[in-house]
Amino acid sequence: MNIIFYHPFFDAQDWLQGMARRLPQAHLRAWQPGDDRPADYAMVWRPPYEMLANRRDLKGVFALGAGVDAILEQERLHPGTLPAGVPLIRLEDTGMGQQMQEYALACVLRYFRRFDEYQLQQQQQNWLPLEPHQQGDFTIGILGAGVLGKSVAQKLVEFGFNVRCWSRSHKQIAGVQSFAAQEELPAFLDGVRLLINLLPNTPETVGILNRRLFTCLVPGAYLVNLARGVHLVEDDLLAVLDQGQLAAATLDVFVNEPLPQGHALWRHPRVTITPHIAAITLPEQAMDQVSANIMRLEAGGSPTGIVDIQRGY
Ligand code: NAP
Ligand code: GLV
Repeated sequence: MNIIFYHPFFDAQDWLQGMARRLPQAHLRAWQPGDDRPADYAMVWRPPYEMLANRRDLKGVFALGAGVDAILEQERLHPGTLPAGVPLIRLEDTGMGQQMQEYALACVLRYFRRFDEYQLQQQQQNWLPLEPHQQGDFTIGILGAGVLGKSVAQKLVEFGFNVRCWSRSHKQIAGVQSFAAQEELPAFLDGVRLLINLLPNTPETVGILNRRLFTCLVPGAYLVNLARGVHLVEDDLLAVLDQGQLAAATLDVFVNEPLPQGHALWRHPRVTITPHIAAITLPEQAMDQVSANIMRLEAGGSPTGIVDIQRGY
């Protein structure tokens, strides 16, 4: 069995050694331009067109992340990047669920306990106790109720918050109110005080975090974007923050990454920025899942995490 590996910034040797420990029968190699030797499986992140195009022997392409928008965009620009009929398989959780829980909970507690405002007050040396928020007035809405959205919802329910989620199809998650599809989006948004985005980047979800949506939230709501930068219309966010329609936002992802020097979001007193670290790929868990899926495929079974290319996630 031949496995090829490409990642623009991960250390290939670490991954090849880790995979060799899990699949001792496999021949593993880091793909280099010009390498068209046989390959049964590919482990990739943003693979160059030449890596996978025209490979008829592939049995699976493993994306080393949860979101596959970059690879699908490459396929759109250069059809054939993903050989037809070969399953594209993404990472499901592999430790990202817990990371997302930690990140989301940190934001929720910070805004719920008004630490963001006390931080601004401290800069003015201003001693002013504020009226505490009440959990009953602090409904949390989660856009996306897949692997990561569900995980975050469950953690916030544990902390006693009213949580609702919005997805394409209805979900049954204990303690969480489920809304589905475009028709139920207004009802989902109505009454939300803190909105967390965990949708995939697809043609239907681009730009969903816009002025129209913000005006459906409780005035003075909070936004936490953990999914993709293209979901957010950045100018709309800046406008609603300045008008007070939104109280604050925490952003982990941006249209252009790294966020360019001098961008207005860097300086906004109500915006908190992290450099796309909400949930990173953890190599050991990722390799466990990829190798288990390869073994399933080799045994004639189906892997978990197959991407529906038409749907885009
Ligand atoms: P997932 O399991 O595929 O879940 C996606 C969810 O979005 C599903 O509940 C799906 O609904 C819903 N959805 C998709 N399109 C929709 C639409 N048009 N309308 C309503 N709901 C829609 O994905 P995941 O593993 O939770 O990951 C979510 C995203 O997080 C990834 O795509 C990635 O962009 C992002 N991410 C970010 C980081 C970071 O560090 N910031 C790390 C990892 C992932 P159904 O369940 O009904 O299909
Ligand atoms: C990171 O953003 C991922 O999609 O895994």
